[in-house]
Amino acid sequence: MIHARGLTRRFKVRKETVEAVRGLDLDVEAGQLVAFLGPNGAGKSTTLRMLTSLLPPTSGTATVAGHDIATDPTGVRARIGYVGQRSGAGDDHRCRDELVTQGLGYGLRWSEARRRADEMLDMLALRPLARRGPATLSGGQRRRLDIALGLVHRPPLLFLDEPTTGLDPHSRADVWEHILRLRAELGTTLLLTTHYLEEADNMAERVVVIDHGRVIADGTPERLKSDLAGDRLTVTAHDASDAARAAEAAVRMAGADGVTTDGLTVRVRVPNAGAAMPGFLRSLDEAGVKVATAETSRPTLDDVFLALTGRSLRESESAGAAA
Ligand SMILES: Nc1ncnc2c1ncn2[C@@H]1O[C@H](COP(=O)(O)OP(=O)(O)OP(=O)(O)O)[C@@H](O)[C@H]1O
Ligand SMILES: [Mg+2]
Repeated sequence: MIHARGLTRRFKVRKETVEAVRGLDLDVEAGQLVAFLGPNGAGKSTTLRMLTSLLPPTSGTATVAGHDIATDPTGVRARIGYVGQRSGAGDDHRCRDELVTQGLGYGLRWSEARRRADEMLDMLALRPLARRGPATLSGGQRRRLDIALGLVHRPPLLFLDEPTTGLDPHSRADVWEHILRLRAELGTTLLLTTHYLEEADNMAERVVVIDHGRVIADGTPERLKSDLAGDRLTVTAHDASDAARAAEAAVRMAGADGVTTDGLTVRVRVPNAGAAMPGFLRSLDEAGVKVATAETSRPTLDDVFLALTGRSLRESESAGAAA
């Protein structure tokens, strides 16, 4: 559905050159739900805008829904929906009229445009709001309207740039419910961006981690976590000498990696924490180490980002927000 090779985009800002996207390769098969995850300024939106033919690449090529973004942008646009990072809805029309107008813009006939508008109102639970103006909607309702606008012409491929950013948890869950439903009912291929680690982890079947304009990891959340971060065993010892001996035992453990000691707390990465813990506790017992607490933890996508970049995505986020 998407095949991109060496996509690159530079921006000239005064005398400075910003390398927003640097040689991005991407293949997305029909029916996939792919999430771009990355900090502010990573190049997510720029990539989406190139793939949707809204922005010409500086170099590189891509075919999207079977059409070349450079030589056949009209062909691309007819087959995709795009919901930008900011709302696309104007404020002077009622929601239903917005949808009909959008359908007409895609070359649908009046009757067809009205039928599709009504379908979308039902599908995204906007029917009770059909006669209201977009300006009167809540953030979550407005995002649902944006998604409806992106779907009026029933594209097989939908791009969503941060569909849930800035929404409260309830509205986020609601938008997700609708995204997953339209995928189940229409089989739409979805490429979306998000800042929310948990969202990418729970909802996407494939996560593409982007940093400084490059893909730095690509896989299912489970795969990324087990390949790049691993599980963790954490034990707290009774005193410093116990902690030191616990760390020694951890280093000797089969498959263990990255043992760290922080005060009385010893952490160690292992492929499968649940399976490793009993043996680890036995070896500590045999070494006469007294253990106060013991716990296992699964890695998060933030651990993956940290392992890849040495930075926490959460920290990059707050740094980006402050800038
Ligand atoms: N029109 C533009 N002119 C100049 N620089 C731009 C332009 N658009 C994007 N950039 C720069 O390109 C880089 C990537 O921006 P982009 O919007 O793709 O990031 P993003 O990953 O979507 O970030 P965010 O999570 O904040 O939306 C940033 O450094 C940004 O400042
Ligand atoms: Mg963006």
